[in-house]
Amino acid sequence: MDELRGKVAVVTGAASGIGYALAARFAAEGMGVVLADVERDALAGAAARLRSTGADVVDVPTDVSRAEEVDALAEAAEAHFGAVHVVCNNAGVSGGISPSWDTPLEDWTWTLGVNLWGVIHGVRSFVPRLIAQGEGHVVNTASIAGLLAGGVGAPYNVSKFGVVALSEHLYLSLLDAAPGVGVSVLCPGWVNTRIADSDRNRPKGPPPERTDDPLAAKVRTGVRRVLEAGMDPAAVADKVLDAVRDGAFYVLPHDDEQWLGPVRQRTEDIVERRNPTPRPMPGIEIILAALAEDA
Ligand SMILES: NC(=O)c1ccc[n+]([C@@H]2O[C@H](COP(=O)([O-])OP(=O)(O)OC[C@H]3O[C@@H](n4cnc5c(N)ncnc54)[C@H](O)[C@@H]3O)[C@@H](O)[C@H]2O)c1
Repeated sequence: MDELRGKVAVVTGAASGIGYALAARFAAEGMGVVLADVERDALAGAAARLRSTGADVVDVPTDVSRAEEVDALAEAAEAHFGAVHVVCNNAGVSGGISPSWDTPLEDWTWTLGVNLWGVIHGVRSFVPRLIAQGEGHVVNTASIAGLLAGGVGAPYNVSKFGVVALSEHLYLSLLDAAPGVGVSVLCPGWVNTRIADSDRNRPKGPPPERTDDPLAAKVRTGVRRVLEAGMDPAAVADKVLDAVRDGAFYVLPHDDEQWLGPVRQRTEDIVERRNPTPRPMPGIEIILAALAEDA
């Protein structure tokens, strides 16, 4: 899509982090923007912040794990702006980090519900509209964890591999079905956002802070520091904008070897029928330093 001015973008998870940066970037391009998020106060605040810059925005509280709420989001967006052109299925949560065999069922349900079903609902609710219109672009937020397993919780990995698969399937299907509708899948490494505080959006609310588990508290501190040292969400949004303009499918904002090397290694392991190569997670030294600190 070359001309974005006057077009309309919908962004889920728009109250914070990458979603907010995407919304701000689209607004700066002169697009109308629909901000959707499950966190009502943060959503209203984000919309007010963008409005104060003169942007034409509307906020629609939405839980993306619920099909009917994503349908209602599409209806609200069309009712307000008359059309939708760019859809960013971006809302996501980190889930827990326990081993796959020991992950509570509610963690699987929550993480897959938001990260994978949220994108599935977005595709079902919006793509038929884009096809009918003959023009549009879908951006699905996966992660580098959609290309590499390990280092994060299993539900997160499974959800993000699913988003990559769905996105590739969608891209290939639309080549014939609707050549004017593009698809990108966003696969960042660490980005400086509030993803480490995803527990704030657990359906039953955040679990009580555990004071009897100092190790878990140190890991959390380490992960927060890794994220703080991560990429600026605005830089991620710039890459997404380029991809929408250029029709680029894979958007990997972290383009250095510490991230791309393991992706190349995994692909080679598969075609050479080698067992998965263990690899250090980028930023692990920051987490280890946090673990080594005195309580
Ligand atoms: N931050 C990173 O390092 C990183 C790396 C790779 C991928 N991602 C992905 O980027 C996306 C955005 O996350 P972020 O890093 O900006 O985190 P964030 O926590 O700052 O923002 C996520 C937003 O999603 C919203 N959300 C959570 N559950 C929701 C639901 N059920 N319905 C609607 N909205 C919901 C939250 O309220 C929040 O505003 C996620 O899909 C995440 O997995 C993040």
